Amino acid sequence: MTFPFDLDDRHLEEIPFLELLPSARHDRLRALILEKRRWISQPKKGFLRYREPMLAISHLRARDCDFAGDIVRIGRGDEISGQERDRVRSALRCFMPWRKGPFSVFGIDIDAEWRSERKWNRILPELPDLRGRTVADIGCNNGYYMFRMLPQRPALVLGFEPSIQHFHTFHTLNSLAGRRELALEPLGIEHLDLFPDCFDVIFCLGILYHRPSPVEALRSLHAALRPGGTVIIESQAIPGDEPVALFPARTYAKVPGTWFVPTAACLGNWLARTGFADIRCFCSHPMSSREQRRTEWMEFESYEDFIDKQNPELTIEGYPAPWRVFFKATKKQSRSDNEVIGL
Ligand SMILES: C[S@@+](CC[C@H](N)C(=O)[O-])C[C@H]1O[C@@H](n2cnc3c(N)ncnc32)[C@H](O)[C@@H]1O
Repeated sequence: MTFPFDLDDRHLEEIPFLELLPSARHDRLRALILEKRRWISQPKKGFLRYREPMLAISHLRARDCDFAGDIVRIGRGDEISGQERDRVRSALRCFMPWRKGPFSVFGIDIDAEWRSERKWNRILPELPDLRGRTVADIGCNNGYYMFRMLPQRPALVLGFEPSIQHFHTFHTLNSLAGRRELALEPLGIEHLDLFPDCFDVIFCLGILYHRPSPVEALRSLHAALRPGGTVIIESQAIPGDEPVALFPARTYAKVPGTWFVPTAACLGNWLARTGFADIRCFCSHPMSSREQRRTEWMEFESYEDFIDKQNPELTIEGYPAPWRVFFKATKKQSRSDNEVIGL
């Protein structure tokens, strides 16, 4: 059973990944997850617009999947009839706008707004060993990176994703792919306190600048890592060498809900002061419309609409145009090593 395809009470209450997370706060976590699952399974219009297309193709299973290439491929075109492919296409269109990808589902190519393979290819040379490991992907969206982790054979990848749209998109894709190592619950980074010392590896990509307190967010990532565990952080950033962060008046590059946009030096300092060790910035690059753009599967404004047309080094609001920075850091092995003084 892949939740939420079979919503009788027996399956609704199954949370098989808990046994892989022995130090999680099981009672509180179980209560929270069941509450959220019951909420999502209500027949409300806002849920049904995703639930109905998901159920319309939930009888299909892909035979041939490939998660190692840039395009996450779930099934080949010749595995289903033309009529079924039309039905799959209509269902997948209901999950628009597709933000992360690319995917190919039974031969239907989904060109998402973000070319997420570019981000993944920057991480790949630094990817920690995931074999047999418990992994969390915070703000995992439709699970593109979770699928890309599968060739490394993790024991569990748990996606945290509160968006109803992305929740259903992932469960639709994984119903077709049938990968039991992957799980996604409608949780947020704010629920990490229920997972003390749980994960060997945590990915936190594209999240920190959306948090009103990035320091609190980093503390919760640190607490949720097992001693010796690794975090991979990717964030929007501003260029510059000073350890400072931009705090926009309202929006940054037209995006509301953007709080602190740090330089790489500033993010490095945040990591150090929240107790991380072995901190390394392994990649930084300016953003571009080659990586984030409008497509047939995301028809709204995209990167080029967010940037000053006369000066591409500025956002539409006149702030420095975004860069992206990547960090790798670890949680020290022993408790005394993890004592952070003066926080
Ligand atoms: C900018 S996207 C980044 C997606 C993906 N991690 C990536 O790097 O491509 C931010 C994601 O965080 C999700 N999100 C929103 N609130 C969140 C929260 N409180 N905790 C975790 N994720 C959240 C959004 O729904 C969205 O999928």
